[in-house]
Amino acid sequence: MNKKGFIFDLDGVIVDTAKYHFLAWQRLAKDLDIDFTEEENEQLKGVSRVRSLEKILAWGNKTISQELFNELMGKKNEEYLSFIAEMDDNEILPDVPRVLNLLKEMEQPISLGSASKNARTILKRVNLLSSFDAIVDGNDVTKAKPDPEVFLIAAKEINVKPEDCIVFEDSVAGVTAANTANMISIGIGSKEVLGHATYVFSDFTEISDDFIKSLIEN
Ligand code: BG6
Ligand code: MG
Repeated sequence: MNKKGFIFDLDGVIVDTAKYHFLAWQRLAKDLDIDFTEEENEQLKGVSRVRSLEKILAWGNKTISQELFNELMGKKNEEYLSFIAEMDDNEILPDVPRVLNLLKEMEQPISLGSASKNARTILKRVNLLSSFDAIVDGNDVTKAKPDPEVFLIAAKEINVKPEDCIVFEDSVAGVTAANTANMISIGIGSKEVLGHATYVFSDFTEISDDFIKSLIEN
């Protein structure tokens, strides 16, 4: 059987943690008298914690000391982790287990490619840690998406050439990263936001078994 490498982003693809990132950043921004919209939030998706805070501060025209910056990053993560602590496998997004099981059945290597430093904690909470042959996350990279580093490492870890990899992504930065890595990008979300992806689906319920099989065969 043909082997492709299937790389999954985590936040907003496997679980709906994108909403928790948004909530935690929004509360923190409010304390700084900065407001940002859900549309602006699209620019934070897939982006590292450091880069996210830099962007929020830029939107509010604020400069702060390094000490306060670090303090705020810690505060955001604490709040975010308080949401994560309540999660269980009910929060796995619809039909993600079906696709993961199909890939396993078809003996396809599966890797995680996430910007998050909390990836393992989340996968443990929703009982998906053992579904991945490799896990590459925010602790393994020096360059954040849209840089392709995270996906290139993820491909290497499962021994698949980048051009034989398929990436599932919900963020603008992540789709760009996958494209730059010369991989097929599958956007999960809206066509308006993720128009640069090779394919776009609103969620996994729209991705048929036949479509997955055609990716493996071609
Ligand atoms: C990405 C999220 O997956 O991880 C971003 O889309 C987040 O919103 C980034 O900022 C870093 O996550 P964490 O958990 O390390 O703060
Ligand atoms: Mg994401």
